[in-house]
Amino acid sequence: MKNIILTITLAFVVNLSHAGEGMWLPLFLKSLNEAEMQELGMKITAEDIYSVNKGSLKDAIVHFGGGCTSEIISSSGLLLTNHHCGYGQIQSHSTLENNYLKNGYWAMNQSEELRNEGLTATIINEIVDISLEALKGTTAKMSVKERQSIIDLNLEVIKENLIKADYQDIIIKPFYNGNQYFAFLTTTYRDIRLVGAPPESIGKFGADTDNWVWPRHTGDFSLFRIYAGPDNLPADPSPENKPYQPKHFLPISLDGVQEGDFTLVFGFPGRTQEYLPSPAVEEIVESLNPAKIAIREKALNIIDKYMRADEGTRIQYASKFARIANYWKKWIGESTGLKKTKGVEKKKRFEKEFMSMLPRDSKHRDILPEFEKLYEQRAPYAYVRDYYSEVTSRNIELMRIAGIMGRLESTYLENGEEGYNNFKGRVVNYLNGFYKDYNPTIDKEVFAALTEMYASNVDHKFTPGSLESSPQMQVSYKGLAANLYEGTAFADKDKTMAILNLPPAEAIERMKADPLYQLSNEWKIIYDKEVAAPYNALNYQIDSLQRIYMAALMETFPDKRFYPDANSTIRVTYGQVAGYSPTDAVTYGPVSYLDGVMEKYKPGDYEFDVSDKLIELYENADYGDYADKDNGKMPVCFIGTNHTTGGNSGSPAIDANGNLIGLNFDRAWEGTMSDINYDPSICRNIMTDVRYILFVVDKFAGASHLIDEMKLVHPKKVNTTVSKKNVKQSRKMKRKMLKAPSK
Ligand code: ARG
Ligand code: GLU
Repeated sequence: MKNIILTITLAFVVNLSHAGEGMWLPLFLKSLNEAEMQELGMKITAEDIYSVNKGSLKDAIVHFGGGCTSEIISSSGLLLTNHHCGYGQIQSHSTLENNYLKNGYWAMNQSEELRNEGLTATIINEIVDISLEALKGTTAKMSVKERQSIIDLNLEVIKENLIKADYQDIIIKPFYNGNQYFAFLTTTYRDIRLVGAPPESIGKFGADTDNWVWPRHTGDFSLFRIYAGPDNLPADPSPENKPYQPKHFLPISLDGVQEGDFTLVFGFPGRTQEYLPSPAVEEIVESLNPAKIAIREKALNIIDKYMRADEGTRIQYASKFARIANYWKKWIGESTGLKKTKGVEKKKRFEKEFMSMLPRDSKHRDILPEFEKLYEQRAPYAYVRDYYSEVTSRNIELMRIAGIMGRLESTYLENGEEGYNNFKGRVVNYLNGFYKDYNPTIDKEVFAALTEMYASNVDHKFTPGSLESSPQMQVSYKGLAANLYEGTAFADKDKTMAILNLPPAEAIERMKADPLYQLSNEWKIIYDKEVAAPYNALNYQIDSLQRIYMAALMETFPDKRFYPDANSTIRVTYGQVAGYSPTDAVTYGPVSYLDGVMEKYKPGDYEFDVSDKLIELYENADYGDYADKDNGKMPVCFIGTNHTTGGNSGSPAIDANGNLIGLNFDRAWEGTMSDINYDPSICRNIMTDVRYILFVVDKFAGASHLIDEMKLVHPKKVNTTVSKKNVKQSRKMKRKMLKAPSK
């Protein structure tokens, strides 16, 4: 009996982190991962990936605009990222006449590269483990507040003592739910120009229908360039600036990928929650995801109707629609995947194991029951919190504007005229962009639909009086919307700007008289008091318990390698090129080809149109050097077992030798629950094959001067003699990775 328990436990511990799972800090690759990576086929070393002593891969990895990832692919700072990451910039340079979204854009020389206000590119210079110093003086018995104030003081001292150049920044972040701290020395460039983008019919081929879906056929890339001052350091945008010369840039492999090939994805994953207890996962699947999905679905249906009816509206709302649709669809996939792989049950089984490992008198025995209690208490507030934020700030546009105006008022009350004016500057900037793409007719309809949903799905004690309905009252939400949008100044740019031009006190008086402002205010007061306050108090306890739980896990399973949850810091994930089986009797291959683009082609359709030029290249198989050497076809995308999340968009997929082979841009739907529960049987990241990118730049766009800048290599040609032993070993490894966990 004892043996059985031991075996089960061991099997479980091993399975906790399967090859493929994990977003690792580059700092610890040597000690934690190098051996496994090399066993999987990697030829380079941990030092080649992350080094402070010499140029390494990390010097080519760039945080793009703080959200996406990008990588440097030439000695002149040429930057590759996703089309959907550069989308806002491409759109901002577009007009109906010069529509770069529709037709693409290619700078034929550096003077044609387009500047982008506010866009930044950040490189990580060094990572420092500051855990000991950060946690100095904290004890297990301390209250959360006490602990945090000691840490805050420590961090200030650490910041002062870290040696850095004037142009560098220090970013400090907690890891493992606050059990460890790391500091990042970074350099941020501020002059980033648009170099090239394919038309949407390539860069966004399949759009929202194909989003999160495999098989995929999207050339989701765009090119930018980092410009620096004469000293190669960050400088404000200026015509004098020169292309940045990097410490390292990625060579590009023309040899393509095959099932089983080693892949490494290097980037800035945003947020994961891999160590949540089961009640939290259950809440996501049963309550929060379904609510958010339903709200967005309502909004999307309305916007879609208008976009299909008018081309101008389509351009105006394309970016907003994509943003709302993206997570709407992701949540559906996440819930489906969690159900399919029995995520909640898996967690529960794991929790049982954890408990069984604890000594009888361990204080950790209270953790899970305590979680259970806290999540139950927090549940009603968590639900309204998501509802409120989806309705008032994510989907009804004018409610968001009214909310911003409310913040202007509170800024005035707290920080006086100066604070007000500072904030107002930013608001005016934002509004200029906002009204360019705003259509009150659409928004009014969204308002009516979503306020009605709120009133009927949220307890009336959390609902503002004017939105409340009862069988007797029969509020007409359409009528309410019509009145509000007629009466508010915010639906109109000139009226809104006129208010902002008044002296602060007067402007605020005018806002307070605005009916939409009043509704927003009333709603916020109820929300802050009845929802946010109790939610935050409970959540504070949950966060602190999560830190204790995390520490307890690491203590209880000392032999397991734990990777920290994603937090927008630089990470390495690695795995292999691999297909998968999403449902019974269906198996997906790992590579898609241009043939698939033609199969999906729907002339004139806004998602699946294909340009004549691409059809012509396809019909003549005019692929230059970029076709697959074995079958002569043009590869478009491929998938792998790399553990990625939002923020990894634009991350390079790197081969065993450190060369670029692909560009990460998505995950397969069934596996998006990897943010909560990675499962190697169905979690796949989706990458555009770099050969397709080169083909589009060269053959489609005729921008061969950009190809000339890059360094193209043939790593597989050099190394054609692979020993039998290696082949066997890598087969064995592959089997190991693809086996579904036997938990
Ligand atoms: N799903 C990808 C990501 O999370 C791509 C999103 C952009 N594309 C789109 N069709 N919305 O960012
Ligand atoms: N498209 C996502 C992004 O923008 C990456 C896909 C994912 O979430 O894995 O970062």
